Amino acid sequence: MRCSPLLALLFSSFVMAADIDVASGLIKADGWEQVRIHCGGCHSHKLVTSQRADRQTWLAIIRWMQETQNLWQFDAATENSILNYLATNYPPQADRRRAPIPPPLLPPRPVVNRR
Ligand code: HEC
Repeated sequence: MRCSPLLALLFSSFVMAADIDVASGLIKADGWEQVRIHCGGCHSHKLVTSQRADRQTWLAIIRWMQETQNLWQFDAATENSILNYLATNYPPQADRRRAPIPPPLLPPRPVVNRR
């Protein structure tokens, strides 16, 4: 039997919905709802999900927002849960940028300016 592309699409969207909250883009894991509630009011959750850091740096980012951007204080349990979530699901990554294009593969410069 041929697998309908529509069925395949539906199936893959169910698989994704199990891990990622569609509205916020946050990974659904322990503590994600605290992050959804506290971290999307001033900027997109995408600013959170595009960041990678260890626990200490996540804490520094939060302290920076508390000191300069009017982010509210958290009770210890909430802060701990947010930090565990962020450090576990958005940990540092060695290199998230692609390598530069080697010069021989670059297109020629269209115009050489001479003065
Ligand atoms: C009271 C408002 C507010 C809340 C709530 C808030 N932030 Fe922010 N956050 C900001 C502002 C303002 C910036 C700077 C935005 C910019 O540069 O465009 C920022 C920037 C960031 C950045 C980018 C930092 C960088 O170095 O570029 C990250 C990551 C971040 N926030 C994560 C979070 C997380 C995680 C939470 C929840 C714990 C959160 N934010 C809640 C105001 C807030």
